[in-house]
Amino acid sequence: MEKGNRANFGSKLGLILATAGSAVGLGNVWRFPYMAGQNGGALFIIVYVVCVLALGIPCIMSEFIIGRHSASNTARAYRKLAGKTPFGLVGYLGVLTGLLVNGYYAVVSGWCFEYIYASAAGQLNGDPQFFADFFNTFEKDPVKPIFWAVTFLIVTHLIIIRGVKDGIEKASKMMMPALFVLLIVLVVASCMLPNAWAGVEYLFKPDFSKVTKELFLGALGQAFFSLSIGMGCLCTFASYFSKETNLTSSAMQIGIIDTVIAILGGLIIFPAAFSVGVSPDSGPSLIFITLPNVFQEAFGGIPVVEYLVALSFYILLSLAALTSLISIHEVSTAFVEEEFNVSRNRSATIVTAVSMVIAVLCSLSLSDLDIICLGGKSLFDWLDSITSQILLPLGGFFTCLFLGWYVPKKIVKDQYTNWGTMPGKYFGVYMFCMKFLCPICILLVFLHQFGVI
Ligand code: TRP
Repeated sequence: MEKGNRANFGSKLGLILATAGSAVGLGNVWRFPYMAGQNGGALFIIVYVVCVLALGIPCIMSEFIIGRHSASNTARAYRKLAGKTPFGLVGYLGVLTGLLVNGYYAVVSGWCFEYIYASAAGQLNGDPQFFADFFNTFEKDPVKPIFWAVTFLIVTHLIIIRGVKDGIEKASKMMMPALFVLLIVLVVASCMLPNAWAGVEYLFKPDFSKVTKELFLGALGQAFFSLSIGMGCLCTFASYFSKETNLTSSAMQIGIIDTVIAILGGLIIFPAAFSVGVSPDSGPSLIFITLPNVFQEAFGGIPVVEYLVALSFYILLSLAALTSLISIHEVSTAFVEEEFNVSRNRSATIVTAVSMVIAVLCSLSLSDLDIICLGGKSLFDWLDSITSQILLPLGGFFTCLFLGWYVPKKIVKDQYTNWGTMPGKYFGVYMFCMKFLCPICILLVFLHQFGVI
């Protein structure tokens, strides 16, 4: 498809909400709080914010630059700039990563749907052991998680086939404000609990004795995941930006929205947990095992509220997951549509079908059936670690090197300054980040994950 008839976002607000919708996801409401809980609360947040500002925002910019310059899907976008060099493969790597993440993200998103259902049906009621059993039984069920993951993918599919403006942008314009309202209501409810202040303090009062190497690397990895960096999501969305879009300010707005929402997520979870004396460092099971119990103890006995808090929280989680899954899906949909020259409908169907197969296999690998496990790890865990620890950092790393060292500076500067119509004040700083700071930091995280440092 050529530049002229390519889809575009309809408005600036729509563009920001859709891109922020990609960034705001399970990473903010599920992963960020447990990472902060395990890494000393406030200290983690400070390091995280520095990572977002110094590394995350420049990396968002580079995906924007590549995407808008090429106005095509991620694979073609890199290929157009890379010529015959191996940098062209980075785009394909992104599309492949996207497809794998799509299937696996759908599984966790499906869990959110189950928890909406369970809280609406009043099933989330019992002692702490009950909540652990509830989650484990559900996760090991061979049918239920598949049902919800497939349902989630169908909803995503129905939005994707409507296109960029009428599907993705419209859905984000409806879902993001709803998400924000729910978030604020839950923050207020949580912060009004007795002893909630201890949780707020934990989030904002750093304890410098807790500095560890894991803290820095954890924060950097979280920043990249949460900002959707490393697999062409932002590149695909930027291919729908117009010539007037200010890339720097859009990247900054998205970084800020994403960080504010992650902190607000923390302001729901920590005050509630501290108010009932539960420590928020339980790791990935925080949202699905610890939290429903915390909600029940904190709000139990207050009629209506008791019932609504858990329900609203899981609706919030599902909305966040949905806007992100849409963006992950779009990477592959745009690729199939343009590279194989098929209609959007057909390409979305192919991507949904493949994602469903991956999601079903992922779910089954967690179930009691004990299949599709390799080396003692389920397919779900494999996909989780291969994508987030290897493929995403690799994508980010090569993108920085590509933009910093290979792509002609004029192209980068034209995009940065909208063809000279805007001042390129921090262009030098940006190039420094691309050439040195970002690749070195990503490399450090990468090497650490393999025990080299
Ligand atoms: N950023 C999303 C979250 O916080 C997840 C996500 C969407 C993502 N697209 C991505 C992560 C691309 C990495 C790469 O949940």
